Amino acid sequence: MKRIPIIVDTDPGVDDFFCLAIAAAYDDLFDFRAVTTIGGNNTTDVTTGNALDILKLFHREDVPVARGADSYLKEEFGEPVAKFHGENGIGNVELEHSDRQIDPLCACDKIYEEAKKCGGELVLVTVGPETNLALAFQKHPDLRDMIAKITVMGGSLDTGNVTEYGEANLWHDAYAAKIVFETGIPIDMIGLNTTRKAPLRKDIFDGLDADEKIKNVMLKLIRFRNEEPMHDAIAISSLVNEKAILFRDAYTYIIEDGERRGMSVAEYDRPPNSRVAVDIDNEEYYKVIRDTICRLSAYR
Ligand code: RIB
Ligand code: CA
Repeated sequence: MKRIPIIVDTDPGVDDFFCLAIAAAYDDLFDFRAVTTIGGNNTTDVTTGNALDILKLFHREDVPVARGADSYLKEEFGEPVAKFHGENGIGNVELEHSDRQIDPLCACDKIYEEAKKCGGELVLVTVGPETNLALAFQKHPDLRDMIAKITVMGGSLDTGNVTEYGEANLWHDAYAAKIVFETGIPIDMIGLNTTRKAPLRKDIFDGLDADEKIKNVMLKLIRFRNEEPMHDAIAISSLVNEKAILFRDAYTYIIEDGERRGMSVAEYDRPPNSRVAVDIDNEEYYKVIRDTICRLSAYR
């Protein structure tokens, strides 16, 4: 089977950790070409360091990490979101430090260079603010013809988590999200209306012969989040198990400012530019998480 070339654009991030776990584990499904980093949950220095350390934990130091922007398109980053991601961005869990160097390219150039090598098949998985993607499309206008799909954790078809309307990733850089959604590239949007339905509980480990180190870190993160959903993991699971997420075709656009800043509006009576997640099969998603744990444990 031909593997799917992917780049994960991320701000690790407690739930980003689980997204990266899945990307790292499915080596037979994903040609994992790079991680690109953005701030938001923390500074870009911190999220980049976290990405390096997480890949080390998963024995995937073959995956390059390219550092991204230090601000949103039109605003500075806010304070680190310690309540949801800990002071260090990953739930105050101390990972073994990676001394690996970051990629010499910045995130937006890395996306472009990898896209050129992938013959139109590259899938971008974006689980943080979409600043790097927007910068890449602005700087390299021909990039939009080189991307097969963008899988987005972001938005919501009901309520947000920063404001009534805005989900964090799209709210933080709504201008960037608007640019991304207007590229014409097929988008799968997995928003809070769906991810909220699937808590990740510690009983996910029941009956698994898991690597102790990985298990300990994951359990700490699950506890840190009080067993709430790991949104970013759900988004990438849709690429692993098509039974996990139920999508509906929609024309989706993003409101960039005002009271409804960051809101994702899905309309079903227009030619679609996207598929929006409308439901999740929790058991199919949990199969992906359990399989990920087993696969990563087999790297021991
Ligand atoms: O709204 C959920 C998103 O915001 C996730 O990507 C999480 O990591 C946070 O940054
Ligand atoms: Ca994230």
